[in-house]
Amino acid sequence: MKVTVFGIGYVGLVQAAVLAEVGHEVMCIDVDAKKVENLKNGVIPIFEPGLTPLVKKNYEEGRLLFSTDAEMGVHHGEMQFIAVGTPPDEDGSADLKYVTAVARTIAQHMNSHKVVLDKSTVPVGTADKVRSVMAQTLKERGVEIPFDVVSNPEFLKEGAAVSDCMRPERIVIGTDNEDVVDLLRELYEPFNRNHDRMILMDIRSAELTKYAANCMLATKISFMNEISNLAELLGADVEKVRQGIGSDPRIGYHFIYPGCGYGGSCFPKDVQALIRTAEQIGYQPRLLQAVEQVNHAQKLKLPEFIQRHFGEDLKGKTFALWGLSFKPNTDDMREASSRVLMEALWERGAQVQAFDPEAMDETQRIYGHRTDLKLMGTKEAALQGADALVICTEWQSFRVPDFDVIKKSLKQPVIFDGRNLYDPERLSKRGFVYYAIGRGA
Ligand code: UGA
Repeated sequence: MKVTVFGIGYVGLVQAAVLAEVGHEVMCIDVDAKKVENLKNGVIPIFEPGLTPLVKKNYEEGRLLFSTDAEMGVHHGEMQFIAVGTPPDEDGSADLKYVTAVARTIAQHMNSHKVVLDKSTVPVGTADKVRSVMAQTLKERGVEIPFDVVSNPEFLKEGAAVSDCMRPERIVIGTDNEDVVDLLRELYEPFNRNHDRMILMDIRSAELTKYAANCMLATKISFMNEISNLAELLGADVEKVRQGIGSDPRIGYHFIYPGCGYGGSCFPKDVQALIRTAEQIGYQPRLLQAVEQVNHAQKLKLPEFIQRHFGEDLKGKTFALWGLSFKPNTDDMREASSRVLMEALWERGAQVQAFDPEAMDETQRIYGHRTDLKLMGTKEAALQGADALVICTEWQSFRVPDFDVIKKSLKQPVIFDGRNLYDPERLSKRGFVYYAIGRGA
């Protein structure tokens, strides 16, 4: 099938590459000419395991095309994905200007039936907006061409995006027209072979499903972070509690890891956007507000521990920081806990020596101007002469470090661990002062 994808961000690029891999002819359109040129030369704008070879292969084999020519894109596919960004507005609601701009573009150039699929995470009611923008544009052109708007939210995780997209747990389709379902079955047939993963529903339910999924996951994390704070105050160990409750299949082990807060481009933005949506219709979303508040407070947990240990004034102190990305296997630093931590340390006069396996360039791009940040080439180099070690991301390479090297390199054997990577008893036997989340520090 011929498919066009507008927006070569995370969602758009991964979806396009995966659709091309299974044999569809996919054209990706983006306004960023540099990005398009880079992709043609095999330069991928994001770090995502498995994505670079997939993009290169499908580009070379001619199934994956990149262009800035929107008109050509509209003519290319009957399927038109909208996968552009929906950044938060000043008040936290999702800004739909890029989505509606693509809708207008499609309607300006289309000459035949199009199925427009909303892949971006968009508030309930967006498909109606897309439809009315398109209808208005077609009216202005004085033409009548049929089209369908479908909500088809994406559930991929950064760091596992290619495999999530190749082996989706579900393919949610929101439509009010049964006739497009066959087209979508054909499009997704390669991902839908062993058992039917397509979940059909009305458009608004599909749009809300995406927010409900992310908000449920964010709620699990904030709930667990709240329990971790209680555990700390009550002298319990949240890691034991986690195992104790996770064994109940109704609760499950997934997404109940306490830590220094959730980040990324999805949870913080989507929780806020659903709060705004609720408020706009006069409903007070108490639980979601609490989820957000708990997360905000949780990101200040490590700075609080540091203050408890070293006092308010950190002038002259240097902190080794392991982990800058918002989670492992990505170089993404959007809403990362490391940023809140570094900014709190700098505010109190401290220096930071940081290392991350993938996010060094991104850190340089954001904080390159700071004289109180040194980016170090290895995790060991980051330790040299620092007063303590702080961990913000659970990269595999941080899980079994050489504790003798850590001890020798630091001025004091103190570790602030925002991801509960180590056994407190063992560390204490080795002579470390170990602060972890909800483990009775
Ligand atoms: C999230 C969802 O997990 C995907 O299903 C969804 O498709 C995606 O958003 C999206 O809307 O596009 P992602 O933001 O890539 O994916 O990252 P997650 O793996 O969900 O992690 C989010 C944050 O939660 C990270 O900062 C992570 O450290 C934190 N987290 C996760 C915890 O603190 N505890 C946990 O138990 C799990």
